[in-house]
Amino acid sequence: MSENPQAFVNPASGSIRLTGEVNFVDAEGNLIESIESPKLCGCGLSKDKPRCDGSHKEYVKLFADVLRNARELVKPCMAFSPMAKKARDIRENELAYRLEAGETMVGVKVGGALDSPNSAEPTSVMIFGYLTNAMQLTDSIKTANYIYPRAEAEVVFKISKEISAEIHPSEVLDYVSHVAAGIEVFDYRYGQAQIYAEDAIADNAGAAAFVHSHWVAVHEANLENLTAQVFANETELETAPLTAIRGNPWLAVALLSKVLVENGAKLPAGSIVFSGSATKGLHLAAGNNYAVEIKGLGRVELKAI
Ligand code: FES
Repeated sequence: MSENPQAFVNPASGSIRLTGEVNFVDAEGNLIESIESPKLCGCGLSKDKPRCDGSHKEYVKLFADVLRNARELVKPCMAFSPMAKKARDIRENELAYRLEAGETMVGVKVGGALDSPNSAEPTSVMIFGYLTNAMQLTDSIKTANYIYPRAEAEVVFKISKEISAEIHPSEVLDYVSHVAAGIEVFDYRYGQAQIYAEDAIADNAGAAAFVHSHWVAVHEANLENLTAQVFANETELETAPLTAIRGNPWLAVALLSKVLVENGAKLPAGSIVFSGSATKGLHLAAGNNYAVEIKGLGRVELKAI
């Protein structure tokens, strides 16, 4: 390689352009060939490695396909970690598949993940995944249709006004008409929860299924003082104050608005928002009856079959 080599990593494709004449050598250092300003593959998909052969263009679609078709014990994305922009593109691609199949986007779920496996002090960041009408349950869930379904107790908001800009916490009530108690079922295609943001975003934040109680008008709800309980076969397994949701569940809507704006996304009026969990994820096993109760808000039940 020349004395002052330069490397340009294309943030969109992942390809790496080196400048100058680059010697490719084998493990013993024997020269294989010299190439002037080669473009190398950084996405891992090239069929002509180490060169970039343009396969990165298929990246988004390929990983959206892989995630869509993943099944338990099939973990095609273990070393995945797409860049943030790619992760978002993959999520949008997955949504597009669902819309093409006739589903309708009905809202979003809020989730959390760590910013980076490479960071010395990883911080938690808010992510979101799209919910569609096909994910809505009535009173039962067929666990065989999922990989590792887990349920969380959440507050559900019905949005009364399009969210297209950042909302100040003091404005949240202007954007919410109703609230309900909900069970959010998340099911990461990797089989286990992905704790890092890029993988989690690419997998639509694990959004898989949901059910919620009757809507309660927002002026009748005092969420800050309520507690969520999770039951399995009528035995209480978990209880947590709703303040476990970002210190104040209303804040979830304000924080979500910021993330939506950063992602160039809007949420139409009439959408629903699952707040993020007050409790730990509970693995759903066939044969059990589950319930989430938020006294003063509602109770919702789910039979795992
Ligand atoms: S970066 Fe182009 S094929 Fe991998």
